[in-house]
Amino acid sequence: MDIEDVRNDIEKVLLTKEQIQRKIRETAHKVDEDYAGRNLVLIGVLKGAVNVMTALMDYMHTTCPIGFMSLSSYGEGFESTGSIKVRSDLNIDVEGKDVLIVEDIIDSGNTLHWLEGYLLEKKKAKTVNVFPLLSKPSRRKWDIFVKYPGYEIEDEFVIGFGLDYKECYRNLDSIAVLKPSVYQQERM
Ligand code: IMP
Ligand code: MG
Repeated sequence: MDIEDVRNDIEKVLLTKEQIQRKIRETAHKVDEDYAGRNLVLIGVLKGAVNVMTALMDYMHTTCPIGFMSLSSYGEGFESTGSIKVRSDLNIDVEGKDVLIVEDIIDSGNTLHWLEGYLLEKKKAKTVNVFPLLSKPSRRKWDIFVKYPGYEIEDEFVIGFGLDYKECYRNLDSIAVLKPSVYQQERM
C-alpha cells in the first residue's frame, strides 16, 4: 500500500519509502560489521517491528536467528499505559547471546526500558542493543541508550511501515501523520 491509497486520511508524509529503506540499509551494514564473529539474535516486538525486521534481514549479509515477542503498552488508544503486558513470550533462547532489539518506535521508552531488563535479567542475554526506526525524544521517560538510531520525529501520532492506528495502516510503505478528523472522536 502506498501513499496514494491513504491520501484522504493523512495530513502529511513524514518519511518516504526511500528514506525508510536507506536508513534500514545503512543500519544493516553497521550491524553486519559490529556483530561479525558474535552470537547475534534479532528480537522483534510484535506487531509494529515486523516491517523493520524483514527489511533489516533483507539488507544484512550475515545470517542470524530471529525471535519475536508480543507486548502491549498502548491498548487501542494513544497513550502508553506504562505497565507492560506480555501477550506472547519470547520464542527463542537468548541466553549468552548478543541481542539486537528491532522496534518500530521509541515513544515514552516504557516498552524498551522494560524489555532490556527482561532480556538481560530474566533471559540472561549477554548484551542488548536496540534499533528503533523512529524515536520521539520529547516524550521520553527513561534514559535509553540507542546504539542504532533511526529517525527522530516530533510528538505526532504516526502511521505506516508497521505502525498502526486501530490495527490499520501497518502495510503502508511510508510513514505519515494522520488527519485529526480520523481520530478526533476518540480524543475528546
Ligand atoms: P513506548 O513504550 O511508550 O515507548 O511505546 C512503544 C510503542 O507504542 C511502540 O512500539 C508503538 O507500538 C506504540 N506507538 C508509540 N508512538 C506511536 C505512534 O506515533 N503511532 C503508532 N504507534 C505508536
Ligand atoms: Mg510496538
